[in-house]
Amino acid sequence: MTSILEQLKDSVSQALVSAFGTELADTDPLLAPTNNPKFGDYQSNVALSLAKPLKQNPRAIAQSIIDQLQVEDICETPTIAGPGFINFTLKSNYIGVLLTKIQSDDRLGIPLVEPTKKVIVDFSSPNIAKEMHVGHLRSTIIGDAIARVLEFRGYDVLRLNHVGDWGTQFGMLIAYLREAYPEALTTANALDIGDLVSLYKKAKVRFDEDEEFKQTARQEVVNLQAGAEDSLHAWGLLCDQSRKEFQVIYDLLDIDLEERGESFYNPFLEDVVSELDNTGLLKKSEGAMCVFLDGFTNKDGDPLPLIVQKTDGGFNYATTDLASIKYRVKEDGADRIIYVTDAGQANHFAGVFQVARKAGILPESVEVVHVPFGLVLGKDGKRIKTRSGDTVKLWNLLEEAIIRADFDISRRLKEEEREETDEFIDHVSTIVGLSAVKYADLSQNRTSDYKFDFDKMLDLKGNTAPYLLYAYVRVQGVSRKGNIDFSQLDSNTAIVLTEAAELALAKHILQLEEVIKEVEASLLPNRICLYLFELSQKFNQFYEQCDILNADEPQRTSRLILADLTARTIKLGLSLLGIKVLERM
Ligand code: ARG
Repeated sequence: MTSILEQLKDSVSQALVSAFGTELADTDPLLAPTNNPKFGDYQSNVALSLAKPLKQNPRAIAQSIIDQLQVEDICETPTIAGPGFINFTLKSNYIGVLLTKIQSDDRLGIPLVEPTKKVIVDFSSPNIAKEMHVGHLRSTIIGDAIARVLEFRGYDVLRLNHVGDWGTQFGMLIAYLREAYPEALTTANALDIGDLVSLYKKAKVRFDEDEEFKQTARQEVVNLQAGAEDSLHAWGLLCDQSRKEFQVIYDLLDIDLEERGESFYNPFLEDVVSELDNTGLLKKSEGAMCVFLDGFTNKDGDPLPLIVQKTDGGFNYATTDLASIKYRVKEDGADRIIYVTDAGQANHFAGVFQVARKAGILPESVEVVHVPFGLVLGKDGKRIKTRSGDTVKLWNLLEEAIIRADFDISRRLKEEEREETDEFIDHVSTIVGLSAVKYADLSQNRTSDYKFDFDKMLDLKGNTAPYLLYAYVRVQGVSRKGNIDFSQLDSNTAIVLTEAAELALAKHILQLEEVIKEVEASLLPNRICLYLFELSQKFNQFYEQCDILNADEPQRTSRLILADLTARTIKLGLSLLGIKVLERM
């Protein structure tokens, strides 16, 4: 289906050409949904923008456009408001026709992209031997939502986990384990990740204060890089150990990812650096090999370098990212590469992208986007920490959300004097707890920091997962109460929209396509959350103001269809955020 917005845009574009000639063929019709029903459903500001170039009064321009507009199937005659806005109000029978169309479509009328494109989403990407922290939680949740939206639209999505599985820290760790826990280097499962993290800290202390240990650790890195068998074996065990721990979180959050860590690109690093050298971009500076960046300067105004080879000859994070771009373009055939990391890495990516473009590794036809996000703060507005001041473990956060959801549900059941099985309570609290965490993260504009607040995210009122889940459950309640199978509703029933609440809900349902297309471009999933929140609010108003089961036909069926479409829209929208619905809660 072509969205209403797109149809209206096309109509305005055509009217512009008919009224003022083909020079205006590429003029943006400046059309957007209104946020006040007083001004109709959509508004175009194009007449105002043309006043200067056309040297005419904007209201007169608006009138000339309206005279040429052919939208009578879709809306009432457009009107001019204020200095020259053109307002469009959709015809209710047209809305009914569109609703009938999507009723029989599993995709609710959302089209697939044609032709498809290859998109890589690089997200989650924790570091081996380190704990997965709340920053990785954000990357995981946001990256997964972005991947789901693009997959639903029909893109060929490759979800990559660029884990930090290589680097000098392994030398230190292996050297330390050799003296302290030699069995950990030869036996699988001798350690768990908690041990690994504390061992890592101890190894770091040793490294910083003992010169001899430092030498040994450096030698371990050399051995590892040279492919010494026992070093590689030890490294492999450490990676497996971490991988297993990460997987627990991915399973819990229902995250699908293909691991392709930094080590994967080792064989290509040298080539990338010689490629930079061949293009004349490489400069030696203070012993390191660098490419100087345009538009990035230090305090003194000197250009900043992107270091690609350190003084000791080792490669780094940037070299790996350059090699990975090359691989993703050439081998994976990517058209768009999306990186989901904290905002602190913005300069890293800007530098890497610039160098990749200059070196010809990244052709203009391939789009690269860094999708930055802010910090996770505690309720007090400071960086989230445990009481003892440690970084918060991801697992504990998720566990606590589930426990709190369980507590809420048990209390509610008591109040309502309802009996439910333990199985039911477990299932509901797991879904509610995990959804609440995901939704709290996704509903924020990701570029800002967000406060992690269990009470707020689990609240049944407000822009929260439980509120949306509850709206969905309400619809299912209607079906249970009226003994109605929504899939059997007569699709020949004309949708009658007479009440304001009905009309508002119906129009909102039809905006899903616009919203999804917006997110596909902006990569801001909070737009979907806002849409679903408003949908649930409009449904609740409809539910309170319009009788469904006791209405007379054809209104009854029409309202049942509206309720069903609401539920299906919520279910689909939430699925794009990686959130499952509940039939009862
Ligand atoms: N491992 C990195 C971190 O924990 C994130 C990697 C992001 N992806 C990339 N291609 N650099 O911060």
